[in-house]
Amino acid sequence: MDDRLATILRRFRDFAEEFAHLPLYGALARRLAQDREAAALLLEAQPGQDRPVLWFAAVHDLVLRRPDLPAARWYASVVERDSVPVGDPWPDVRATALAHREELAGLIATRLTQTNEVNRSVYLAAGLVAATHDQHPGTDNAITLVELGASAGLLLGVDRYAIAVDRQGVQAVAGDPLSPVRCEGTDRSLVAVRLDELPRIAGRAGVDRNPIRLDDDAGLRWLTACLWPDVPGRVERFRAAVELMRREPPPVVQGDFVDGLEKAVAAALGPAASTSHLVVFSSWALTYADRARRSELADRLDALAREVPALSWLTAEPPGAIPGIPVPRGVREDAGGTVLGLRQWRDGVEQEGLALGTCHPHGEWIDLDEMPSG
Ligand SMILES: C[S@@+](CC[C@H](N)C(=O)[O-])C[C@H]1O[C@@H](n2cnc3c(N)ncnc32)[C@H](O)[C@@H]1O
Repeated sequence: MDDRLATILRRFRDFAEEFAHLPLYGALARRLAQDREAAALLLEAQPGQDRPVLWFAAVHDLVLRRPDLPAARWYASVVERDSVPVGDPWPDVRATALAHREELAGLIATRLTQTNEVNRSVYLAAGLVAATHDQHPGTDNAITLVELGASAGLLLGVDRYAIAVDRQGVQAVAGDPLSPVRCEGTDRSLVAVRLDELPRIAGRAGVDRNPIRLDDDAGLRWLTACLWPDVPGRVERFRAAVELMRREPPPVVQGDFVDGLEKAVAAALGPAASTSHLVVFSSWALTYADRARRSELADRLDALAREVPALSWLTAEPPGAIPGIPVPRGVREDAGGTVLGLRQWRDGVEQEGLALGTCHPHGEWIDLDEMPSG
């Protein structure tokens, strides 16, 4: 057997083991690990992209477009979640995939998986509270938020969502408690995170090399297709956030996040430029750039910090990914996971970089043990 196909089958097997609890993708991965003909569609992928998630996204995109196909009834994103049948989805999904193999091969050959995970607002909210903890004089506790690798810009709406965080059975809600978008997480931190201190956002913008506009139906469908339909609430939350953010979409400029930084900052800064606390945020984005590029970004932020009273660089990335952010105690650098990191400049002078703690990659829990002093 072709070495590449053997690797693809092994990846499906690993996926099936890790996500055995998922009724759709767990079951499909188990069968794909033994089905050369169906799995071979991934041979069309661009170098380095032949991962199970791309196969799943291509088929998901197809059934979102064609709800009449046999596979569609297994997708909670197409039919009502309660209407998804119990049983083996593979015969329908296999038949649909092989009947549309040309179309799927075309998607697999040209697309990259891309997400915008709204529930990450949980760790973003916690990070914003930490970043503005010192209430630096001259910043009126309002921030200008810039996201690097913003995708469709949905995390820029963090204050427009209800961020419900449970701590030992007691729930606190930050943002807009009446919002149709509800993000949920558990606070496992030693000391409770005060989400009620979420700062006001005076300006916001993002940069992405492939921004998805909120009026681009095909682009949004692909982002939906990259979500896993059998994780309850994930697709529903994404769609609700798109609806809400469409009313007042923040600009997401097209470009590389190092070269496009200044443009994104200019798009976010309004008339309050001179008094605002600039918070530059990234979540599962900088990790895709190489180390030298991340250091270059750090140098650019250092220069930018001389132009504003306060600048914070908040990152939610794997351990060891961000220059100047230590790997938290007890976390192995190669262990994956999400570290919430904070670098701060006040009046142009940098303070010590902090690893605030660790989080679930989709914000299902936060565990912060370091808050900046101030
Ligand atoms: C995994 S997604 C995360 C999106 C969003 N930050 C979130 O947490 O939901 C990574 C995003 O980073 C963008 N990206 C990756 N490398 C980039 C680069 N060098 N410049 C700009 N955007 C980049 C991708 O296009 C993608 O939208």
